[in-house]
Amino acid sequence: MNLHGKTIVITGAARGLGAAMAKRLATHRPVLALVDLRADDLKAAAAACEALGATVHCFGANVAKEADVIALFDQVVAKCGAVHALVNNAGITRDALLIKYKDGKVESKMTLDQWQAVLDVNLTGVFLCGREAAERMITGKVPGVIINISSISRAGNAGQTNYSAAKAGVAAMAVTWAKELARYGIRAASIAPGFINTEMVAGMKPEAREKLTSGIPLKRMGEPDEIAQTVEFILQNDYVSGRCFEIDGALRL
Ligand SMILES: NC(=O)c1ccc[n+]([C@@H]2O[C@H](COP(=O)([O-])OP(=O)(O)OC[C@H]3O[C@@H](n4cnc5c(N)ncnc54)[C@H](O)[C@@H]3O)[C@@H](O)[C@H]2O)c1
Repeated sequence: MNLHGKTIVITGAARGLGAAMAKRLATHRPVLALVDLRADDLKAAAAACEALGATVHCFGANVAKEADVIALFDQVVAKCGAVHALVNNAGITRDALLIKYKDGKVESKMTLDQWQAVLDVNLTGVFLCGREAAERMITGKVPGVIINISSISRAGNAGQTNYSAAKAGVAAMAVTWAKELARYGIRAASIAPGFINTEMVAGMKPEAREKLTSGIPLKRMGEPDEIAQTVEFILQNDYVSGRCFEIDGALRL
């Protein structure tokens, strides 16, 4: 897909990986529909993308709410005319051990709220945005691409029952959509990043950071732009579909 003039929706675009994706894609002069709940950060990301050549529209929507997502995609079509690509990037963590047992006592359990909050955003949010984007690609009769941001944790990571389950789910959804939607000219794929140097990680103590990176064969975290490069590659290469791209410096959990 040639990205010039194409409408690309990115959820969770206000900061971190989503903002990095938006900035890299902006150089192709697309129409970016940037979605997030953080209005101020979103404005800053939008200004940076406009300076790089993109036309940008900002939308405040909660991807976990069906009514928000339907209204979001209606507004995108009304403002931008079509939906050519979606990056399902918005995500949260609520880490906890399934059972924390110490000195003969259960100290805590992952709560239903922790489970549900992560599933709502990271799994249901991806389902809703993928469904609404696909509908508009099909009815608009335009070829499209959907990319789900999974994680290395999709293989299972201690402390992340909720997150690992959701991230395995979004990788499986991309394979399912690649099979179901190919007949409409829609491709779907996922990306499973390892540890990436985002705002979240930048605030870590140097010792914790050192411990984390020492276990990575490439001995460093990934940079947000290295995930953005993978998004760009998937969008541009018309024979890519149905696969999960593991961008993790060879780390295995
Ligand atoms: N940073 C990493 O190391 C890493 C590794 C693997 C996977 N990921 C995944 O990459 C994606 C981006 O991660 P990040 O590190 O940039 O996180 P981040 O917290 O910096 O950014 C996520 C963005 O999503 C937005 N968001 C959260 N819930 C939302 C909702 N309900 N509706 C709309 N927007 C919402 C947030 O406001 C935020 O701007 C996530 O899906 C994350 O799980 C990150």
